Amino acid sequence: MTFFRNLALLVASVTPVIAQTWTHCNPTKEDCEPNPALGTDYTWYMNETLNDKIWNTTNGEIVSGDEGAEFTIAAKLQSPTIQSTFYIFFGVVESLVKMAPGKGIVSSVVLQSDDLDEIDWEWVGYNTTEIQTNFYSKGVKDFNNGEFFYVENADTEFHNYTTYWDQDKLEWWVDNKLLRTLTYDEAKNKSTGDSIFPQTPCNVRIGIWPAGDESNSEGTIEWAGGEVNYDEGPYTMTVAQVRVHDFHTGKEYEYGDNSGTWQSINVISGNSTALEEINKPPPKSLSQKWAELPSGAKIGVYAGAAGVGAILLALFIFFVIRQRKKGRLEHALDDSKWNEERTEMNNYQQNWKQSEWKNGGYRVGQQ
Ligand SMILES: *[C@@H]1O[C@H](CO)[C@@H](O)[C@H](O)[C@H]1NC(C)=O
Ligand SMILES: *[C@@H]1O[C@H](CO)[C@@H](O)[C@H](O)[C@H]1NC(C)=O
Ligand SMILES: *[C@@H]1O[C@H](CO)[C@@H](O)[C@H](O)[C@H]1NC(C)=O
Ligand SMILES: *[C@@H]1O[C@H](CO)[C@@H](O)[C@H](O)[C@H]1NC(C)=O
Ligand SMILES: *[C@@H]1O[C@H](CO)[C@@H](O)[C@H](O)[C@H]1NC(C)=O
Ligand SMILES: *[C@@H]1O[C@H](CO)[C@@H](O)[C@H](O)[C@H]1NC(C)=O
Repeated sequence: MTFFRNLALLVASVTPVIAQTWTHCNPTKEDCEPNPALGTDYTWYMNETLNDKIWNTTNGEIVSGDEGAEFTIAAKLQSPTIQSTFYIFFGVVESLVKMAPGKGIVSSVVLQSDDLDEIDWEWVGYNTTEIQTNFYSKGVKDFNNGEFFYVENADTEFHNYTTYWDQDKLEWWVDNKLLRTLTYDEAKNKSTGDSIFPQTPCNVRIGIWPAGDESNSEGTIEWAGGEVNYDEGPYTMTVAQVRVHDFHTGKEYEYGDNSGTWQSINVISGNSTALEEINKPPPKSLSQKWAELPSGAKIGVYAGAAGVGAILLALFIFFVIRQRKKGRLEHALDDSKWNEERTEMNNYQQNWKQSEWKNGGYRVGQQ
């Protein structure tokens, strides 16, 4: 459960949930590779197959349905999740989401950095008219940051959940309405005065998980509204689209020291890998490839086809000669066996042409 350590909200009874935090390399503790940037503003329509170089499926399987990407729990402990390979260094994340209803089921859209700053949207399935907002700083399990809001029919209607995040403030919006603001200045550790404002480059994680699975801690199950009843599933969260706007343009984000402050982040310039992926043209159709071939290559293909014709003609003559040798040519047209063979020959030709077109033609087109 790497993704879902982010469960740290108060339940009505003020039971803290034990969050598990995990990161592959924590830049406040060790030297890490820089984070690949997004470096642009882009909208993904999630009803289409996602580019796995941009959205990595880190758990389970995501289905592209008519309405969007479907994250489904159909069996015990399933937890389909995707994670962006890119990071943003301040920006906007706008997602159109239909939460999964059902007690014990948690749908979420999370921004998280390698030193475990975090910004959350969470939908807890037992209440389909509520969105939970939350944030964390450096993986500290502070359970006082969550705030809950009313959202109508969050399970049957798509709503627009937008996070606006810059160095001065963090905002949570639903359907163009500002629900919550956290300023940099107010986000302070009460005992030390240190900033607890999320401020390091984050990737985007979208998923669903059975927080109410019986194997989880009592506090988690309670927060999730009770134990999951897998027999009543499947439980599906649907994400129609995700827009991510990175406020910096560049190739990578590098932690300049181990302070974990935004001022310590170096923006390495260049085009990001994500941007290059986004700008790659879609795969071409066969007719497009044909149209783009230089005329010399087309002549080559025609000549090849003519060559095929010559081979077929030779085969035909061979057939005819064979028939003649058998002394049956005169009766050929009346001969049912001949007709049969001719049909076979036709089929053979047709298959040959088709496979030639598919394989040969395609190969030429790719060059
Ligand atoms: C996905 O949704 C977008 C926006 O609603 C639409 O324009 C597009 O045709 C859809 N694509 C598929 C494959 O359904
Ligand atoms: C994608 O996720 C898998 C599973 O968590 C992980 O092993 C892999 O390294 C990830 N790939 C990238 C490019 O992040
Ligand atoms: C669901 O959450 C909303 C918003 O917090 C609240 O007004 C409502 O009473 C809750 N409903 C249930 C059944 O807990
Ligand atoms: C979602 O909400 C944000 C913030 O209000 C707004 O800027 C954006 O245009 C909205 N997007 C859609 C698709 O409605
Ligand atoms: C505040 O700082 C103290 C001392 O470093 C630390 O133990 C505590 O976890 C911090 N609290 C938060 C909310 O960051
Ligand atoms: C970034 O991409 C643009 C457009 O494709 C190109 O003109 C530019 O040279 C690239 N910059 C670098 C540093 O590769």
